[in-house]
Amino acid sequence: MEDFCQEILLTEEQIKKRIAEVAVDINRDYKGKKPLVIGVLTGAVVYCSDLIRVLDFPLELAFLKASSYGSDSVSSGKVVINSIGCDVKDKDVLIAEDIIDTGYTLKSLTEILYKEGAKSVKCAALLDKPERREVDVAADYCCFSIPDAFVIGYGLDYDGEYRSLPYVGILNPAYIKK
Ligand code: IMP
Repeated sequence: MEDFCQEILLTEEQIKKRIAEVAVDINRDYKGKKPLVIGVLTGAVVYCSDLIRVLDFPLELAFLKASSYGSDSVSSGKVVINSIGCDVKDKDVLIAEDIIDTGYTLKSLTEILYKEGAKSVKCAALLDKPERREVDVAADYCCFSIPDAFVIGYGLDYDGEYRSLPYVGILNPAYIKK
């Protein structure tokens, strides 16, 4: 294991297996519908690509960028959502989010999508850190609940690095920049 990774939390195989399990629920709930899946950039790119390929209903795909002001590992609660870039009016929207931490991103995004006229908004999250929650939101579909630790890999970064790792690991605190 590389020195920057303190512990491998989820292997590639575990992630693949769990996404397939969660997809069973999503496929059941969206049967006969054609939702708009919105991947949240940049962290959810890997997860979203794997998720949509195990969904068995027709869908539209879009991505948007959500950023929170703050340092690289601490959320400030102020979320900026770039323009959605597609029409969400009367659509069933399924947000694909890499991780729900404080919950501010999901809360802001859900509010904006409903304001733009979405018919329904649900979230399929790869990871959830419930201990860190500051606002009352929950994923409708969640692959893994994880402890309060800063994780990297499978799309998730620290300061722009580690996104291409095939697994999810805990960042070695020695690698946190002062
Ligand atoms: P929230 O608004 O605090 O729920 O934060 C969600 C966003 O913070 C995620 O989409 C990630 O981009 C980022 N984030 C939160 N925790 C982690 C982590 O452990 N590793 C990498 N990014 C994280």
